[in-house]
Amino acid sequence: MTDGSLVITNIGELSTNVPGEGPLTDCAVAITDGAVRWVGKSDALPKQFEATPVADVEGRAVVPGFVDAHTHTVFSGDRATEFGMRMRGASYEELLAAGGGILSTVEATRRASMVDLIGESMPRINRMLAAGTTTAEVKTGYGLDVATEVGMADTIGALDMALPIDLVSTFLGAHVVPPEFRDRRDEYVTLVAGDMLDAISDKVSFVDVFCDDAAFTVDETRTICEAAREKGLGIRLHADQLSRSGGTSLAAELRAASVDHCDHATDEDIGAVVEAGVTVVLLPGVSFSMREGYPDGRRFLDAGATVALATDCNPGTSYVETMPFIISLAVVNCGFTPAEALWSATRGGALSLGLEDRGIVEPGALGDLVVLDAPSYTHLPYRPDGGLVAATVKRGSLL
Ligand code: NIG
Ligand code: FE
Repeated sequence: MTDGSLVITNIGELSTNVPGEGPLTDCAVAITDGAVRWVGKSDALPKQFEATPVADVEGRAVVPGFVDAHTHTVFSGDRATEFGMRMRGASYEELLAAGGGILSTVEATRRASMVDLIGESMPRINRMLAAGTTTAEVKTGYGLDVATEVGMADTIGALDMALPIDLVSTFLGAHVVPPEFRDRRDEYVTLVAGDMLDAISDKVSFVDVFCDDAAFTVDETRTICEAAREKGLGIRLHADQLSRSGGTSLAAELRAASVDHCDHATDEDIGAVVEAGVTVVLLPGVSFSMREGYPDGRRFLDAGATVALATDCNPGTSYVETMPFIISLAVVNCGFTPAEALWSATRGGALSLGLEDRGIVEPGALGDLVVLDAPSYTHLPYRPDGGLVAATVKRGSLL
């Protein structure tokens, strides 16, 4: 998509995320060639923008585009039947051990062609865009063999090219041990850290490992992450989701870009990631869909952590596509203030991905904005059932 130019005027309330600056009122934003150039009062638009197309938003609130920093939104099939079983009491670990869970999506994804995979994933990503997500991270991890993992990375790349959203891809070959390696897990770790990584490292920005009792140990995770770092990849980890496996403290040791879930992290683990400057990504959509306890955001926020919020969109534990719903869950169930939740869903996500140019509205930042059908961002948590996004602006183009 070509970069756009647009003046958004008559903004009733603008959340900029500029440090120390509360929401601005009665203002305008001028974007040219995809980037913000000026922010100020609606009646003070500089002359140089007079010829730029104008969108009058009639007093609506405007916030930065959402940055969804943890998704598995490229996959084939669904797991609605399994969801029904879980609601009747089956556990996620039991289903996984019986070859269901992640493994059933692996089976479906291995069978899918790249055309199928694009066809199934594109509507999801279009719904994310319509709900205000302008940048999303997407993981591989439903291939677990070299060809399908590479195919997933190529699919993410193709969707990034085809759609106005920016997608950041992460290699999650270490999601679980696939059935053909069940009794040879060491060989699988060697494959992931060796041939699989060699085949995929040019196509992705990050590596991720599901470091948990049901998946990979701390030592296996370290081996894979160190190999990926040699290839220049950043590190994200699924850590301490199902139990306290030690993944959060490993993320601190490895100076990962992010550590995600952290439901069972101890205070010491949290202290270590704060010290190491690792962004914590909280995923309350999982708690909602798994009918489990919510992460206590205050533990992380009050310890001084940089916290991001994300959907974890995946067919098993959180088939949630929209960030406004996550903001609502974070405020209602995780102790975030509305302002903290908005920051974590925008700037926090951007920082976790190393993308300094977004999640903020100031000259030089990307022209990624969301116009709300509401007078204030505080309506996002307050009105949880969607539909508050009036328009998404991506790199200055009104979608
Ligand atoms: O973030 N924890 C592992 N990965 C996903 C679940 C993926 C799946 O169930 O398909 C998660 O919850
Ligand atoms: Fe996940």
